Amino acid sequence: MTDQPAELFSTRRPAEWIRAELAQARDTEARWADRRNLRASYFAGDDVVSLAAEAFSSYLGKNALYGALAYPSVRRFEAEVVAILLGLLRAPSGATGSITTGGTESIFMAVKTARDWARRSKPHATAPAIVVPRTAHAAFDKAAHLLGLTVRRMAHSPGFAADLDGMAAAIDDDTIMIVGSAPPYAYGMVDPIPAIAALAERHGLWLHVDACVGGMVLPFLRDLGVSLPTFDFALPAVASMSVDLHKYGYAFHGCSALLLRDEALTAFQRFDFDAWPVGLYSTANFTGSRGAGPIASAWAVMTYLGREGYRALVGRMLEARIRLVDGISRIEGLEVFGRPDTTLVAFGSPSLAMPLIVDEMNRRGWTLARLTDPPGILLLLNGFHHEIVEDFLADLGDAVARVRRGDVRPTAQPAVYTV
Ligand SMILES: Cc1ncc(COP(=O)(O)O)c(C=O)c1O
Repeated sequence: MTDQPAELFSTRRPAEWIRAELAQARDTEARWADRRNLRASYFAGDDVVSLAAEAFSSYLGKNALYGALAYPSVRRFEAEVVAILLGLLRAPSGATGSITTGGTESIFMAVKTARDWARRSKPHATAPAIVVPRTAHAAFDKAAHLLGLTVRRMAHSPGFAADLDGMAAAIDDDTIMIVGSAPPYAYGMVDPIPAIAALAERHGLWLHVDACVGGMVLPFLRDLGVSLPTFDFALPAVASMSVDLHKYGYAFHGCSALLLRDEALTAFQRFDFDAWPVGLYSTANFTGSRGAGPIASAWAVMTYLGREGYRALVGRMLEARIRLVDGISRIEGLEVFGRPDTTLVAFGSPSLAMPLIVDEMNRRGWTLARLTDPPGILLLLNGFHHEIVEDFLADLGDAVARVRRGDVRPTAQPAVYTV
């Protein structure tokens, strides 16, 4: 901080001073689109970033909350983005969706919709519960905490996969919802959605597929001929899906979508209220005011890249993943976790101190996400990481050798997802 906040506010500064301050602050910390950033930097090229920025800034002051009344173009962009997603994820006619501010809000709204649906369809569930694999995103617990539900999170993930037997055993009369992720963040291996769908069907549960990471990746892997178990609305049991546009959709934050199999289900999603002096307040989201910028940026990027552009980016990530998995597996002492089947690669070691390897890689300018259990590293690829595969593997090999020799001192960096 340059000055005390109170002082900053008491004396006006010229715009030039502010611009310089912003540039200095921004450029002396991590650059999000750096090629050596393998921790969630969804970069699809300078052309995509500038178009998204143009679209975002041209819709800056508009509020999507008033889309229906004042800004029909925002409504239209939202509807078109949702329609594209429903097509990609093979939703039946009559399916619908809405744009939220992020994966957490999409998941929150999915849990809220399932809860209100269950109040009607499963009235015997007096202490409603959700069954989730061990690797499901923390947002399910956040949502359940806020909505008064219980989460039955599996304690194990055998072979880095969902514990199907544990999930089946956790279902009882109070269970209203079951979750699968395509893929989950932790290990990047798509959950066995067809088997989870069979459980949902057998017990009449709401099935949510969290495709926040994979929703804009898996359809293009399929286009490229990669064989994948069905993970989307093609399975009749899938009631809802979350897809983040600010991840592999390449829109700016915050933009995600909650998709519902059937328009009739929106009755359980929406909040309607009119006991105040300004008339009906009716929203599909948790938020009230919503920036139109993220929606405009999503629409612009999706239209610009089209199916062909996304497929090309996914093709490059697939190539990078194959080379990375091969290279990591060749480094003695390292092992890839599970079966990476999207754009995420998780790996660790039965013998080496992974936190020290991360420390050494950080010193060499790499930004990596840590895994805690088992200790490891999670790589999230973007469409430019094929350019750094060889450098990364060379540094990783050196880092492993240094750790093996006992040459690396630990830093105090804890493994945190966010604080
Ligand atoms: C699988 C998965 N679901 C949900 C989320 C939550 O998304 P957000 O951070 O946009 O709220 C994430 C974030 O990384 C994720 O990886």
